[in-house]
Amino acid sequence: MRARRAPVTELPPANPPNDAAGLPARAAALDLLTAALSGRAGLDEGLSHPALAALDGRDRAFARALVMATLRHLGPIDAALQARVKKPPPDKVVQVLRLGVAQAFVLHTPAHAAVSSAVDLVARDKSLQMFKGLVNAVLRGLLREPPQLDDPELLAPGWLLARWRAAFGPKAAREIAAMIPREPATDLSLKDPATANDLAAALQGEVLPGGSLRTQRRGDLATWPGFAEGTWWVQDAAAAIPARLLGAQAGETALDMCAAPGGKTLQLAAAGAQVTALDRSAPRLRRVAENLTRTGLSAEAVAADAAAWPDPRTFDAVLLDAPCSATGAFRRHPDVLWAAKPSDVAGLAAVQSRLLDAAARRTRPGGRLVYCVCSLEPEEGEGQVAAFLGRTAGVVLDPIAPGEDGAPTESLRPDGTLRILPQHRPGGLDGFFIARFRKA
Ligand SMILES: C[S@@+](CC[C@H](N)C(=O)[O-])C[C@H]1O[C@@H](n2cnc3c(N)ncnc32)[C@H](O)[C@@H]1O
Repeated sequence: MRARRAPVTELPPANPPNDAAGLPARAAALDLLTAALSGRAGLDEGLSHPALAALDGRDRAFARALVMATLRHLGPIDAALQARVKKPPPDKVVQVLRLGVAQAFVLHTPAHAAVSSAVDLVARDKSLQMFKGLVNAVLRGLLREPPQLDDPELLAPGWLLARWRAAFGPKAAREIAAMIPREPATDLSLKDPATANDLAAALQGEVLPGGSLRTQRRGDLATWPGFAEGTWWVQDAAAAIPARLLGAQAGETALDMCAAPGGKTLQLAAAGAQVTALDRSAPRLRRVAENLTRTGLSAEAVAADAAAWPDPRTFDAVLLDAPCSATGAFRRHPDVLWAAKPSDVAGLAAVQSRLLDAAARRTRPGGRLVYCVCSLEPEEGEGQVAAFLGRTAGVVLDPIAPGEDGAPTESLRPDGTLRILPQHRPGGLDGFFIARFRKA
């Protein structure tokens, strides 16, 4: 499981560096891609890699855009490479080839720059000199016969596609996969919904059902109108739905059990509730504190394991945004698709059921509980609800109404829970499962 970060936006790579000056950008992209696929630190940590930080803004944006383009087309890129490389070369050469293909066919870097920079990257490493010819030949071969990089059957790992087919049917599974290469817009949640139209005008955005603001704007968020004043925060349109559905109000107490980096805590605080934000990770909890400070909102922040928190309190409204495989978050974190393993899903499902039991204990009689995960895997969603209701006396489902709080009507299941698929809104949104319960 990766802890998710606030989304980054990518500057459009309209004028990528394509001469020798661009080599440091490509070298940084190589480090970042390696980190993203390492299954350890991942893309989030890679984005704070010193090699990336040392670049100027334009090169940094190019490196980031190149890695995202590579990750969003990784399956088809690998299929194209496998058809041309009989014996797999060392990992680093594979990464260079992947970056070369993404440059040539996704970012449309001039062909000579894509090839020569790939050869130069390999040449920087003495032990890989012997692969210069292979890199040159493979990329030139692909330039003569361009590969198709948007086949949905190749865009996600086979085991995930098979799971999605089994859970949602073949058509929906293909539609999910077809969202993978698409760069998402940026969605914002607003501290004061009354500012939506003014902010939409300032950011050339549109107000979505439920109140999120969607903008195609790119670049440094910190320079956007309203950032310094703390009038909004970045939050995917789907991620904003669970806290709205909890309906916490002024005068109520609310517990956000897995709070960092704090998007949902901010929503609950902005609604006027007295919020306790719990997270096991003290460093990630600092991000909650930073977000609260910037937006001028307040909440009690506590670093603790939510399942073993010794505090005796119960709350009017409890939100459990549980740690999960995050397969629904691929639009901004395409690395999750390639880092996730089948065994992760079962392990995380066990964590989720333990946390759901703790959430039920924290909900006062008559109170509400919302459970959500940004996973597309039924064991982390539908399966949790059935098992939780089966073992928990006095808790019932509180069905979500069609279109309630901006939930796409297509996402509503017959039992009143939500299975949001990324294709359920034009332009996309993150995949989520959401259920609301009431305690008798
Ligand atoms: C999906 S993220 C939460 C995102 C957050 N709700 C938001 O909207 O910004 C899951 C969080 O759960 C935290 N976490 C994992 N296990 C936990 C536990 N046992 N108790 C409390 N927090 C936990 C992780 O540190 C991570 O920050």
